[in-house]
Amino acid sequence: MIRVAVFDAYGTLLDVHSAIARNAPRVGPAAEAVSKLWRQKQMEASWVLSATGAYEDFSVVTERALTFALLTHGIHDRAVQRDLLEAYRSLDPFTDSVPVLTTLRDRGMATAILSNGEPAMLAAGLASAGIGGLLDDVLSVHTLRRYKPHPTVYALVTARFDCQPHEVAFVSSNPWDAYGAARFGFNAFWVNRGRAPVEYWLDSLATTLPDLAALPAALSA
Ligand code: LAC
Repeated sequence: MIRVAVFDAYGTLLDVHSAIARNAPRVGPAAEAVSKLWRQKQMEASWVLSATGAYEDFSVVTERALTFALLTHGIHDRAVQRDLLEAYRSLDPFTDSVPVLTTLRDRGMATAILSNGEPAMLAAGLASAGIGGLLDDVLSVHTLRRYKPHPTVYALVTARFDCQPHEVAFVSSNPWDAYGAARFGFNAFWVNRGRAPVEYWLDSLATTLPDLAALPAALSA
């Protein structure tokens, strides 16, 4: 019986590409490529930090990844960089984020976020997206100073909700995060909005959803 639905934040409830989309004319023709590289380098740095036992706040990781992505594409405009980082603190929610959280709460399910973002960054983003009030808790890796997908991070959920892993639905658009959650014993749901090829054995370890809107039906199945 699943009684807690836990969501990844960046890329799953919040659209990480909305920061650049809002500023696309100022970033120029490489806007989409910058956004993808920004995200890729942000995630890569989190894995390297965790693997080496190091830690930097996710906002610092995010800033450095953006610097790398902009410089790679020859963009040196400090004002653009500043505004993109500011936009990252108020990302757009995906259109199905609020309706799905509302539906699950109406069913009596507990809802939470487990994110790499540090608490201040998450609080700002969730408030501006109108999601903050739809969650029982916002769990951050910051308390452990270790990034996903380390298993100790997923254990924050079972400790907080005093539950077994099989009582948790973990929802992420990041394949590596869905894999980490499945390995921990959660019911993993991979939100594959971009119809990407399968990674990390998710075809056997997770339920693949085309979007978040498909989650309530999948949970009732
Ligand atoms: C997060 C990143 C992984 O919110 O998207 O944890």
